[in-house]
Amino acid sequence: MKWFAGSDHAGLDLKKELVALLRERGDEVEDLGPASEESVDYPDFGQAVAKKVVTEGGLGLLVCGTGNGIAMSANKVRGARAALATESFTARMARMHNDANILVFGARVVGAGVASSALVAFADAKFEGGRHQRRVDKLMAIEE
Ligand code: RB5
Repeated sequence: MKWFAGSDHAGLDLKKELVALLRERGDEVEDLGPASEESVDYPDFGQAVAKKVVTEGGLGLLVCGTGNGIAMSANKVRGARAALATESFTARMARMHNDANILVFGARVVGAGVASSALVAFADAKFEGGRHQRRVDKLMAIEE
């Protein structure tokens, strides 16, 4: 699986850990930054990751302090379905029922262990389609 990852300064350390986990699993990850702890603005990275996922396919990983700002930014991009998760169940269901294409964490909310488990749950889950496809279609039609 190809991933695109991004964060702001608050999410940088957790993003690095999660990117390393994905690479250990054998996934390809393009990290869109930031590369340093200098203060940055989450909309820049939420938007960048979402645009890549929507145009190139694959999945996205985003981390900021709470996860809210960077998730809101990503979801402004047409075609993005960014899901904020604090544990594995929500992360898994985001993929199975909502066909989420971006997973979001708040580094000031979840520790690396919980986030890692949730990321693996998301990565291993599959969209169930069926009635959920109808709902996702209606969700995406709101953008029209
Ligand atoms: C940065 O201080 C913080 O506001 C940001 O990481 C995030 O929590 C916003 O939603």
